[in-house]
Amino acid sequence: MGEIVLAAKITHVPTIWMSEKVKGFEGIRKQAVAGLKEIGRRAEARGVETFILCDTHWLVNQGFHLNGRPGWAGTFTSHELPHMLHGLAYDYRGDPDLGDLIAEEANAAGLRTLNHKVQGLDLEYGTLIPMWLANTFGARVLPVAANQFSAPEENRDFGIALRRAVEKSGRRVAFLASGSLSHAFAPNRVSRDKLNDITDEFLRQVDLRVLQLWTEGEIATFLKMLPTYVTACHGEGAMADTAMLFGVLGWDSYRGKAEILCDYFPSSGTGQVIVDFPVS
Ligand SMILES: [Fe+2]
Repeated sequence: MGEIVLAAKITHVPTIWMSEKVKGFEGIRKQAVAGLKEIGRRAEARGVETFILCDTHWLVNQGFHLNGRPGWAGTFTSHELPHMLHGLAYDYRGDPDLGDLIAEEANAAGLRTLNHKVQGLDLEYGTLIPMWLANTFGARVLPVAANQFSAPEENRDFGIALRRAVEKSGRRVAFLASGSLSHAFAPNRVSRDKLNDITDEFLRQVDLRVLQLWTEGEIATFLKMLPTYVTACHGEGAMADTAMLFGVLGWDSYRGKAEILCDYFPSSGTGQVIVDFPVS
């Protein structure tokens, strides 16, 4: 029987790449680099065969989608932030069979889901940056899109279906919610000054309260505030990744307490973190 052996909310900001690769920015995200490497260390130690990432940079407008290609190789340059992220080489195996199983379970739950195996459907940096640091041991990769017009309940149901599929699959899986906490990108005129700052103090304070709820195990309370959090704090990809993560974990019946692997940090106006949610 398959199993979710690791579940985490993670950052994927391009400043992580800059921290390692761009002259003048060395070390600016060293804690996030260490946190993603720790995710990889834990995943490898737990025998993870596939990383499933809900990637909030793979935004879709209708339905649910998996990238079930058998593999990808290439060199990535971001269209959004080409000055921050370019030249990221990658080569990963995919997991088409697990994608099929998840689509089957999600469709049975009434969620319109497709598992794509088409040329041209490449990886986004919400997958590539975490995999660059965490997947150094050849695990498979299976990206899930974030529907930017979806409701938390739909993503919860997708997470529940995903977990059911994993349990049927025989795979050992890490589920990573790859997205921001608050996500108000700094306005263009101040974007350079806000490289290491939050756009609005209100957003930082809400993010910190969310982290407190997570570390104290107050998940049911957090889920009550999630719909308003998404709109008031500019959720990245409607925070589909976060709702999906809690669906995977059992939603409001989850009793675990989050472990912070990288302290909260602002990046280009947004709020970022790496948090491991223990799975039983
Ligand atoms: Fe992002």
